[in-house]
Amino acid sequence: MAVSDIGEADLAMVIDGRKIADELIETVKLEAAKLKSSTGTTPGIAVVIVGEDPASQVYVRSKGNKAEECGFKSVTHTLPENTSQPDLLKLIADLNADNSIHGILVQLPLPDHIAEGEVIQAIAPEKDVDGFHFVNVGRLTTGEVEQAFVPCTPAGSMVLLRKALGKSDFSGMNAVVVGRSNIVGKPIASLLLASNATVTIAHSRTSDLPGLCRTADILVAAVGRPEMIKADWVKPGACIIDVGINRIDAPERGEGKKRLVGDVAYEECAKVAGSITPVPGGVGPMTIAMLMANTLTGACRAAGVEPPQF
Ligand code: GUN
Repeated sequence: MAVSDIGEADLAMVIDGRKIADELIETVKLEAAKLKSSTGTTPGIAVVIVGEDPASQVYVRSKGNKAEECGFKSVTHTLPENTSQPDLLKLIADLNADNSIHGILVQLPLPDHIAEGEVIQAIAPEKDVDGFHFVNVGRLTTGEVEQAFVPCTPAGSMVLLRKALGKSDFSGMNAVVVGRSNIVGKPIASLLLASNATVTIAHSRTSDLPGLCRTADILVAAVGRPEMIKADWVKPGACIIDVGINRIDAPERGEGKKRLVGDVAYEECAKVAGSITPVPGGVGPMTIAMLMANTLTGACRAAGVEPPQF
């Protein structure tokens, strides 16, 4: 049957990231209140932004607002574009030493004169809620996930996958991750492997990408190419997690207007897949929710309390 012959009834289940993120935030609020009443510890997060990139400012503001909604202590350090690397490292050292702070996030990208890697490695691993420090990367890739901070977007994607598939063990399933970034592709591949999936990481040098994607029971798109993945790349019934957030021209909405699309051609792929995340409203809301979950986890560990599982 051609894709166009498939009716409405055959559309994929839409994985509602907003609803699942809201539920997760409710759990974080509840657990944060319990932690406070049992130990006196209030989770604390510090977000650091250098420069005036408007998109980064929006992200940072929404992280601060969500932390306050969760009942956390939330501090934002907004530093000028010309901040020196030693000054930024001094701030991180102060936050590392501050017992009221359990999570430190330095918003990326940083200005060109600052070595991003050096800044990330200066964050204490036990406060690295982004999960970018070598210690946390090492814990994740060696299977010590319980001790790690897992990067927020991959961690949130796994929550969506477990909900969509109704299980947490992916034995016998083929997973294809398109994209090999340190922030998404590599860590989500580690998480899928830890969940017993058979994992392939594909990228711009992969041959026959459509053919490889067609083998995937779980297809994760994290390349930053608008609507790259087409319906004939999708195995019927597959679960698609679209991590892409691309802003494209939308002349149909008026002159100069833009709209958000993922890395997956949603309308056509939804006719073949079993379940799929929309953009917006899929993985995006989960990222910030997992940041709150990671901060709570850091606070629980600091207080000597077993953190909740998310
Ligand atoms: N910029 C874009 N995504 C991220 C992220 O996950 N963490 C940080 N720190 N900066 C980002």
